[in-house]
Amino acid sequence: MKLHKAILAAAVLVPAGALAADTAMTAFVDSLLAQMTLDEKIGQLHLPVGGDIVTGDIMENTIGADIAAGRIGGVFNMKGCNQIRDYQRMAVENSRLGIPLIFGMDVIHGYETVFPIPLALSCSWDMDAIEQSARVAAAEASAAGICWTFSPMVDISREPRWGRVAEGSGEDPYLGARIAEAMVRGYQGDSLRNNDEIMACVKHFALYGAPEGGRDYNTVDMSRQRMFNEYFAPYKAAADAGAGSFMTSFNVVDGIPATGNRWLFTDVLRDRWNWDGFVVTDYGAITEMMVHGLGGPADVSRMALDAGVDMDMAGQMYLNVLKGLVEQGKVTEEQIDTACRRILEAKYRLGLFDDPYKYINPAREASEIYTDSNRAVARRIVPETFVLLKNEGNLLPLAKTGTIALIGPMADAANNMQGMWSVARTAADRSVRQAMTDALGTNAQLLYAKGANVYGDAVVEAGVTWGGHDIRDPRSADELLAEALDVARRADVIVAALGEASESSGESASRAHLRLPDVQQRLLEELVALGKPLVLLNFSGRPTVMVYEQEHVPAIMNVWFGGTEAADAIADVVFGAEAPSGKLTMTFPRSEGQIPVYYNHLPTGRPRSDGPAPFEKFRSNYLDEQVTPLYPFGYGLTYTTFAYGTPQLSAAVTSGEPVTVSVDVTNTGNRAGNEIVQLYVRDVAASMSRPVKELKGFERIALEPGQTKTVTFTVDPAQLGFYNNDLEYVVEPGEFDVMVGPDSGNVQTLRFSLSE
Ligand code: NOJ
Repeated sequence: MKLHKAILAAAVLVPAGALAADTAMTAFVDSLLAQMTLDEKIGQLHLPVGGDIVTGDIMENTIGADIAAGRIGGVFNMKGCNQIRDYQRMAVENSRLGIPLIFGMDVIHGYETVFPIPLALSCSWDMDAIEQSARVAAAEASAAGICWTFSPMVDISREPRWGRVAEGSGEDPYLGARIAEAMVRGYQGDSLRNNDEIMACVKHFALYGAPEGGRDYNTVDMSRQRMFNEYFAPYKAAADAGAGSFMTSFNVVDGIPATGNRWLFTDVLRDRWNWDGFVVTDYGAITEMMVHGLGGPADVSRMALDAGVDMDMAGQMYLNVLKGLVEQGKVTEEQIDTACRRILEAKYRLGLFDDPYKYINPAREASEIYTDSNRAVARRIVPETFVLLKNEGNLLPLAKTGTIALIGPMADAANNMQGMWSVARTAADRSVRQAMTDALGTNAQLLYAKGANVYGDAVVEAGVTWGGHDIRDPRSADELLAEALDVARRADVIVAALGEASESSGESASRAHLRLPDVQQRLLEELVALGKPLVLLNFSGRPTVMVYEQEHVPAIMNVWFGGTEAADAIADVVFGAEAPSGKLTMTFPRSEGQIPVYYNHLPTGRPRSDGPAPFEKFRSNYLDEQVTPLYPFGYGLTYTTFAYGTPQLSAAVTSGEPVTVSVDVTNTGNRAGNEIVQLYVRDVAASMSRPVKELKGFERIALEPGQTKTVTFTVDPAQLGFYNNDLEYVVEPGEFDVMVGPDSGNVQTLRFSLSE
């Protein structure tokens, strides 16, 4: 019998609360650590990528040998119970102490049932739905042996050039924090006790979403007050929600790579926020510290360990270097013990010492993945993520009559709709073309033409379709265009399905130009020139610059990458069986030159007026561009309209008591609809400059035609504070504006005072 099992027999498992202090756990890990050699402890800190290892060949593979030698703590991005079981068996039966492995994976927006990309999900502003998406993802991944997901990514970003905005929840810290909590709850459930609850890994700590120039992996530099006031809230919310692990980011923070930044991981995350999970690096990030210019393997490994970073993902720095550092007295064995303890605690919290095969259940794998009920959960959410940006003359929804031309490279591209990081997906998908054909039946005729490839340049296209998407048409751009125009001419209405390839956003997918790719832009302009009713469905993983579109296309809907259920959701929304009800969580700029452009900016001492002059001298504006964005944060239309009454405050002056703000919202259209009512606050005068508005509340409501609901927000004085330059959270008395409205650019304002 393995030693850990003997210990286990004497231990009482108390897995209450995800990160609850647990004396039984401490006793268990103490005894285990006491039996481990230094090599075995260092082995726990090593996380190699799984690779394509075939069952039966494992013994010939270094990973197999390393597992048996106790040189591995876990493995990641390996799919399927069979492989995972073989690895686990090797750890449990062949290694000296039988310590189980932890199995991680990038389950980012679903497993086989793929949900809309995270940026799209955030546009739902629907915390229950977002939590459910994580719940389904956890249930499916856990059925296939995965007990740890590298999600949620909670990096706030105001950088649409940065492709990874697709993986986050947009630009707002308050909304980002609520989503972070929902995701952690969804993945981890109540306690990690059940075999469908998996450990979350909050990433990327910290500030990964603010790279200079929007270029992935690039330098980040900002004041600490800005970190605390504008970027940290979602990380903290996830830590408070009990997330079991955190991942480091690739960038520097205060000039020090995050992966070696003790202030971040020890002073802030552990000491200040009182969090006690384990920290894993991002992929090879300790190794990259050498490229950042922090020294050789010994220097960077020591720095990362000193910082409080426990596990080395995909690098072999800790594995190869730490023992020597202990022998030289540069690192203490206690430090190794601390890191190892945290990883063992995570395994304990997951129940792996109790049952190392807890998550490895082929029967569940066969019956609980991509089920009708999971797909139904995804299907329900998708229309909530669509953002209707323009709908002149109520062109949408379209009637199911006449001849409809569906045109564009996204129309028949089922794979592309899965979006980046849908690594586990194998299920066959439907395209918009198939879904629309079925939705129309014999009521109307659907014509189709591709119209353009995603990019004119085949090499560029290959670079963003590496996920096996065979979508390129060998015909020339002119041939594709001519065919499309011929089809469009025969139609009563045109639906243009255009946008990015799925891998044009996500990791390593920065873009300097945010318009539609040239060939698609040309196609769109030619379609516009036909003068027919035209709907643009924009598939994107980030804000698109759409000034031409806003001026010339009557109806525009951002449908992002909606996952396995996207096609039917698009058809149902286009033909009106359902309505779109998302609102933007990232500002859409008018041009790249405006970036960063975000709603919660500080006031400038020289704002420009709202007047008509294109340019105001000695004011903060551009000679050649407006200062306002194309579509502001929080913006989105639906198929009905809403009227807001005059908001009411519970008190004009308050001394520490919460204030309530109420507003009546009426559905003034003739069909039922959902509205996302938003509350913003501004500190009018403070000891430092404060943003012109900050989101502090929101509510998604459903209204029947003619129905009115009163939405009441409670603003607690504790929500009115900020971090000063000593990084103390202060609430200062004085005047506050409270704003209510349908989006950040359209609010009604009231004022109240907070007295001492
Ligand atoms: C690198 C990415 O930055 C991170 O988000 C991901 O979880 C790891 N690779 C593992 O695939």
